[in-house]
Amino acid sequence: MSSTVSPDVSVAERMRTRAALIERIGGYMTAHAIGVAAELGLADLIGSGARPVEELAERAEVHEPSLRRLLRTLVAVGVATEPEPGRFALTDVGALLRSDSPDSLRKFARMFCHPIFFTSWQSLQHTVTTGERAFDHTYGTGVYDWLGRNDETSALFNEAMSEESTIAAGYLAEVHPFPETGTVVDLGGGDGTLLTAVLNARPGLRGIVFDSPSGVAQAPAALAKAGLTDRCAVEAGDFFAAVPGGGDLYVVKSVFQDWGDDEARAILRTCRAHMPESATLLIVGTVLPERADTSAPVAFFTDLNMMVVAGGRERTESEFRALLAETGFRVRSVGIGQAGPLSVIEAVPAPDAV
Ligand SMILES: C[S@@+](CC[C@H](N)C(=O)[O-])C[C@H]1O[C@@H](n2cnc3c(N)ncnc32)[C@H](O)[C@@H]1O
Repeated sequence: MSSTVSPDVSVAERMRTRAALIERIGGYMTAHAIGVAAELGLADLIGSGARPVEELAERAEVHEPSLRRLLRTLVAVGVATEPEPGRFALTDVGALLRSDSPDSLRKFARMFCHPIFFTSWQSLQHTVTTGERAFDHTYGTGVYDWLGRNDETSALFNEAMSEESTIAAGYLAEVHPFPETGTVVDLGGGDGTLLTAVLNARPGLRGIVFDSPSGVAQAPAALAKAGLTDRCAVEAGDFFAAVPGGGDLYVVKSVFQDWGDDEARAILRTCRAHMPESATLLIVGTVLPERADTSAPVAFFTDLNMMVVAGGRERTESEFRALLAETGFRVRSVGIGQAGPLSVIEAVPAPDAV
C-alpha cells in the first residue's frame, strides 16, 4: 500500500497538521458566529465587564442554551472569554464589535457577514470555473447597482467602509505630505471619512467627496457632524463618465480593487481627462507582493472577495504601474505600507499623453 506520509512523522504531528486544516475549514463558521454576535449587538450588551449568559439572552431576546454555545465558540476563537462558568467578557479583539469603540468594526462585521456576501461566496466555484462574478450570477446585477437599489444595505455598506477606513485615514493624514492649501477630490469617497481626516489635519484645504448617488448618501450628515460642511462639497456622479475638474489632488482609496483592468483603465482615463495637468493622483490601497506569501492573508482573501463580489482584483506594484502608464500617468512615488497596511502610489499626468 502506498502512502504519502513519512514513517518519521509521528501521529501527534499528523494530528496537528490535520487540525490546522480543519481549523481553516471552520473559518466560515467563525465568520458566521462573529456576524451573528455583531447583528445581535452582543458586544454592546457585554460592555466592559463579564455578564451572565442568562442576562445576555434576555436582553438580546434569544434562546439561552444556543447563545451559550455561540459565546463559548467566540471564546474558542479569541473574541470573548469565560472568566467564570456561564459569565462572558470581551477580549480586545471582541471589544472592536462594540458600537461605542472608536475603532469599532461592528458594521464592518455586519456587512461582510451579510447574506449578500455569504450567498455570493457559495458560488465561488462558479467564479473559479467560469470567471463570472458570483454576485452577478446570484443577484443578476453588479454589487454597486444592487446597493443603489437597496438603501438600507447601502447605508450599512457606506458605514462599514467608513469603519474600515477611519484609522488608515487618520494615519494617512498624519504621514502623507498633503498640501496646506488647494482642493482635494476624493473619488469613490463614500461618506467622506478620508477627507474628514485630511481636512482636519490641514485647515487651509478644501475638499470634494465624489461618489455615486447611493455612495454619497451618508456624506452630508457625516461632514456636518465633523463641522466640515463649509469646506467640503459633496458631488454625486459616475467616475466612468466624468469626475470633478479643477482639483489639485485626486485621492482614490480602495476603489481600483473593485474593478477589472478594463474598468480600472476607464476610471483612470476619466481622471486624466478631467484633472488639471498640474494635479496629482493619489492611489491609496492594498499593493500585493509580487509573489504570494503568508505575511498579509487579508490582502489575499480581499482579492478573492473582490473576484467573487465585485469582479475586481488587488494588484501588485507592477500591475498598478502598467495601468497608469497605459492611461497617461507617470508614477512619482510608491510608498508600500505607507498608510499602515495600505500603500500610497503618487502619479501625475505624463506630458503629451492622454
Ligand atoms: C470599496 S468602496 C471605498 C470607499 C472609500 N473610498 C473607502 O476607502 O472607504 C468603493 C466606492 O466606490 C464607489 N463607486 C462605485 N461605483 C462608482 C461609480 N460608478 N462612480 C463613482 N463612485 C463609485 C462606491 O459607491 C464606494 O463608495
